[in-house]
Order: sequence, then C-alpha cells, then structure tokens
Amino acid sequence: MAVLTIEGGKRLSGEVEIHGAKNSALPIFAATFLCNEKCTLQNCPALSDVDASIKILKHLGCKVVREGDQIEIDPTAAHNCTIPDELMREMRSSIVFLGALIAKCGKARISYPGGCELGPRPVDLHILSLQKLGALIDERFGSIRCRRVGRLCGNTINLPLPSVGTTENIILASVTARGITKIHNAAREPEIIDLAGFLNACGAKISGAGDSVITIEGVEKLGGCTHRIISDRIEAATYMAAAAATGGEVLLKKVQPDYVEPVFYAFREAGCELEIGADTILLRAPARLNRIKLIRTQVYPGFPTDAQAPMMAMATVARGTTMFIETIFQNRYRHVDELCRFGANIKVEERVAIVEGVDSLYAAEAQATDLRGGAALVIAALAAHGESKIGNIRHIDRGYAELETDLQALGAHIKRVDY
Ligand code: EPZ
Repeated sequence: MAVLTIEGGKRLSGEVEIHGAKNSALPIFAATFLCNEKCTLQNCPALSDVDASIKILKHLGCKVVREGDQIEIDPTAAHNCTIPDELMREMRSSIVFLGALIAKCGKARISYPGGCELGPRPVDLHILSLQKLGALIDERFGSIRCRRVGRLCGNTINLPLPSVGTTENIILASVTARGITKIHNAAREPEIIDLAGFLNACGAKISGAGDSVITIEGVEKLGGCTHRIISDRIEAATYMAAAAATGGEVLLKKVQPDYVEPVFYAFREAGCELEIGADTILLRAPARLNRIKLIRTQVYPGFPTDAQAPMMAMATVARGTTMFIETIFQNRYRHVDELCRFGANIKVEERVAIVEGVDSLYAAEAQATDLRGGAALVIAALAAHGESKIGNIRHIDRGYAELETDLQALGAHIKRVDY
C-alpha cells in the first residue's frame, strides 16, 4: 500500500506539461473497438483508468501495443462481446463500451460500472437512449444484456439533462446505425468534440459536437486513424489551484486554454494574474488569496464539477468566505471532512459548502475519498506547514499522471512511500 508524504509550505514555481485528457481518452478507447483498421492514439496519459480500458480492449480481442504515450489498437480480430464484472467495476466510463459493443457485435453483456462514489450514478439515460436506437435491453441479476435485430436505427433523442457519458454512448451506437440520429440537449464538453473528431477521422459523419444539437449520419463502416488526445483541462485547473494555494508562479505548457477558460474567473477573483498563450497558461498568485464569492458547478461551459474539490482546497487559505454550490452530483463533498483535518473551516448543507478561509493549514494524515477529492488533499498538504500523509492514493492514480514527478519539478517536497 502506498501513501504520499508531503512536506508542505513550499511555494510552487516553474513549468509543467499537461498530459492528455483522461475523460477524452476513455470514450475514444471504446470507439476504437468500432473500427475496422488499426488506430493510433497519441498523448495517452499513464493512468490506472487507461490501464483498465486497455484490459477491456484486450479482453474483447483487440491487439494493443503501448509505447510511451502512444497506444496502437488493432480491433480487426476482436470477437468478444461481454465485459466481466471485475473489469466493469474498475471505472465508471466502462459503460460507454455498451454503445460500441451493441453497434459492432449485435449483442452485449456487461455488468454495472464502478468509478468514483459521488452519490447515485444511474445509467438509466444510457439504457433509454440505446433503446430509442432499437437496442433490446434486459436488466436482470446485476447485468445488462443487450441485443439488436438488424442494424440499429437512427432516431431523435431529447436528453432530459446533458449527460456526458450518455451523449458519448449515443454517438458510439449511432455512428454505424441506419439513418440519422439527432441528440437534443447533448453534452457540450470538449471531450465530446474530441470523440467526434476521432470518429470523423475514421470515416464517421458527425456534426454539431460542442453544441447542444449533435447530428450523426450513420455510415456502413469505420476505418482507422491516428489521433492526438486533447490535453486535460482538469489536470490544468488542479495545477493552477496548487500553485495558487502556495502563493506560487507556474507556467502550464501543452494546454488548451479555451477549454480551461471556465475556471479563469475564479483565479482572477482570488487575485491571481493569468497570462494566456496559444498553448500555455501562466499563473502568478499573490502572497494571500482573496475569497471567491461563488463557485457554482455547471455543465460545460460552466465551472466544471471536477475542479470543485481542488478549488475548495485553494479557497481554504483565502482571505474571507467562498461559497460552493455543487449542481451536478448529489454527493461530491466527501473530501470536506478530510480537508478539515488540515484545519480548514468548511460547513456543508446539502449541495452548498461554505469555506471560511484560515490564515494557514497544518499538516495532517488524510485519506483520498475519490479522484478529485484526493487531488484536493494534495493541494491542502502542499499549502500546510509540516509533513502530511495521504493514503488511499489509488483514487488519485486514476486521474493524475506523473503527479509526484511534476510537483517535484515545481519545487514540492512530495514522495510516494510503499508500506
Ligand atoms: C463524466 O461522467 C466524467 N467522467 C466525470 O469525471 C465528470 O464529473 C462528469 O462527466 C460531469 O462532467 C468521464 O468522462 C469518464 P454525466 P459521467 O453522465 O459521464 C446523472 C472525474 O473526476 N445521470 O454527465 O458519468 C448523474 O448521476 C469524473 O474525472 C443520470 O441521472 O457524467 C449525474 O448527476 C468523475 N442518469 C449527472 O447526470 C444517467 O443515465 C451528470 O452525469 C447518466 C447520468
């Protein structure tokens, strides 16, 4: 079992290169299963969720070769259409394999996905949407059995909420369906644009990705392509929050600033200076941060729910009171009790968290509760005086590649210790 030990109180300064986006890579891995030629994905982050996707692809019969951040997937010999329970439980986004499996194999059997515990995370919209495309689905004994008679059939789907995973599943299922599919109230996240970009490069006909109406004109079959995964906007926001919480100055490189923009207002309100380049963001923090009046999480292009916990860690050391409203997930404040171990002053009432900034945090021992909550604890430990220990870091490994190396390069005293 490994823990992170962090000797905090050091100002972060220097440069860091942002990795490829986890939440883009995962649905694109599922999309490669639909292809009829080899695909090469570049800028793939070294994460345990990526390892889990590779395990699923191999289980389905794909050949996968990994060299550094490049992964080659050859789906031409894929034959399997079931994903066993232990692989499904490894991550939430395993559910997007359902759309790809039913489209390619005509039948599929999977169990319910795992992933971060952020309150109830049903898959009802995924199921209803696939049914609208003609899939016959039977949910019994903890498994989802799915089949189709003939090709899936394009349809108009009005989503009651712009679910990211559901939008991805519909795209994957409909890309080779007969006729035209229209998704109304589709998710607009950059990861959707990346998925559509990959599929279009393989011969799909998808338009409108990034807008709330997406049109998919089914094609007979897909080829393959070489595709570069976009950079991770949440990793970028996390490093910005870490730099800000330590009064530091950090240059993010290989970043797509447009996609990070929804968090900029919060850093500026906290008193940070931002200089935005074509693929860089420079953040210069003041010695003491100001409070941010309100952080309300929303779907893209609103403030991302995935950046809520890291920003909360930063707000704990600001001057004044910051209010958070979490509108996406029912229970995404599990990191709060752990942050309070560092001396943070936070009260939670249902979807609202009130953070009273304190002059300084002190070192503590804490346990990561989920991926972004874990990143929040790392930020608190970096800002705190003394040596902190963070356990349960398997959550953090799901979403932050080379975390210790990158933070060390910025001057942090952080190491992974195996017990
Ligand atoms: C994606 O999850 C991301 N995961 C999450 O990132 C992210 O927090 C989330 O989108 C919101 O931006 C991946 O891309 C792998 P949703 P997803 O479907 O697709 C409800 C991280 O830290 N809902 O948009 O699961 C659901 O319960 C992670 O990197 C239904 O009710 O998110 C939630 O309240 C965690 N029924 C809301 O919609 C459904 O069938 C948004 O979920 C599906 C979703």
